[in-house]
Amino acid sequence: MTTLIKGGTVVSATGADPAEVLIDGEQIVAVLQPGSTLADSAETGAERVIDATGKYVIPGGVDCHTHMELPFGGTFASDDFENGTKAAAWGGTTTIVDFAVQSFGQQVQESLDTWFAKAEGNCAIDYGFHMIVGDVNEASLKAMDVLVNEGITSFKLFMAYPGVFLSDDRQILLAMQQAASNGGMIMMHAENGIAIDLLAEQAVERGETAPINHGYVRRAELESEATHRAIQLAKVGASPLYIVHLSASEALEQVAIARGKGANVFAETCPQYLYLNLEDHLGAPGFAGAGYVCSTPLRSKHEHHHEDLWTGLRTNDLSVVATDHCPFCMKDQKDLGVDDFRAIPNGIGGVEHRMDLIYQGVVQGEISLPRWVELCATTPARMFGLYPQKGTIQPGADADIVLYDPEATWSISVDNHHMNMDYSAYEGFEVQGRVDTVLSRGKVIIENQSYLGAKGDGRYLRRGLSQYLL
Ligand code: URP
Ligand code: ZN
Ligand code: ZN
Repeated sequence: MTTLIKGGTVVSATGADPAEVLIDGEQIVAVLQPGSTLADSAETGAERVIDATGKYVIPGGVDCHTHMELPFGGTFASDDFENGTKAAAWGGTTTIVDFAVQSFGQQVQESLDTWFAKAEGNCAIDYGFHMIVGDVNEASLKAMDVLVNEGITSFKLFMAYPGVFLSDDRQILLAMQQAASNGGMIMMHAENGIAIDLLAEQAVERGETAPINHGYVRRAELESEATHRAIQLAKVGASPLYIVHLSASEALEQVAIARGKGANVFAETCPQYLYLNLEDHLGAPGFAGAGYVCSTPLRSKHEHHHEDLWTGLRTNDLSVVATDHCPFCMKDQKDLGVDDFRAIPNGIGGVEHRMDLIYQGVVQGEISLPRWVELCATTPARMFGLYPQKGTIQPGADADIVLYDPEATWSISVDNHHMNMDYSAYEGFEVQGRVDTVLSRGKVIIENQSYLGAKGDGRYLRRGLSQYLL
């Protein structure tokens, strides 16, 4: 089927111009100037015409950090691949890169097969995988080479969670050397988990068990120290480095210094670190703060983290916004830690709201319209070897397209979201702009506030190497 999207403003990472987009089947075949002979004949020939008057026409969002069904702290993230990817579609995200997990004592390839089985036939949108290497040993290092050839080209390591996922410096360096030789990207959870666990233990001994203590013990210095150490190790290992879910100004400073010296160091932040804070959210009355327990943690509003992160997004020291979507319900999940914040499963759901929340940065003058598209679609696609299939509107790209209404206003609520969560971290947030229509590989999956897709529409994406390294 051929489709013409006409009347809208096509926004790319480099600009925003009136243009018409012609789709044939699953792919974009032309971007045409309105009123041109080609556009007129495309309209005559198209089997379907979508009117985008007054709308932005943007590439579908690429969320390169999600955790559907992640096992954590004796429970599982509450969105499975079916529901989580549908919620992503509602919010204008048409690609996710989720994390397959090798836990301690497991084989990498077997763990990956488990994640393939969880996702296959269930996703509403296209998906790829990174691999969490939770047990760096000779076999997992060899497996990293195999995975790169299978389209899993990025590997997450943890400097946090001792006894669960933590890799020591020897393991980190070994994995970095492996990535240096096979072209993979090392993604780092940069927090000093050994120091954090000590502080957490001491806090609980003093009777400080409420959710806010999660933020107090995961100090910004310990994110900054780990970020610095990861950068130095990457230099020694000659590997590229991508810092995930960066939240503290001090950690951003380390990234900026390294980038200033020309290092292949990249960093991502997430909407929660731009809009939520330690005192009002993690410190919410009663046990409500548990809904905001995530790692790295939310930072103090009395410091300047939010402002610094927005600056980093402008200067490109932060080059990606992802969600770290890892939802848990308050009931039976977050409340596992009602007597001890250490037992609260770590994570916040947000896959549905990233495009809207970051668009507020455009509305408020923090970033430009093209930068919104670059941070949320184009750069994540390039960073993780999906470009130009994803993250752009150009001939040959998949027809993953969002019509975005810049004037709509609404407020985020547990009552209108589609994620499997019994609360919203952004309850009551007034938002300008809203997803109007979503196409995934040419198929309209969201229209007129209805979901028209089907389970299994989404396909597995075999990714290439990061295009920032070539
Ligand atoms: O709190 C978080 N971020 N949960 C998900 C796991 C991770 O470290 O990304
Ligand atoms: Zn992490
Ligand atoms: Zn994560």
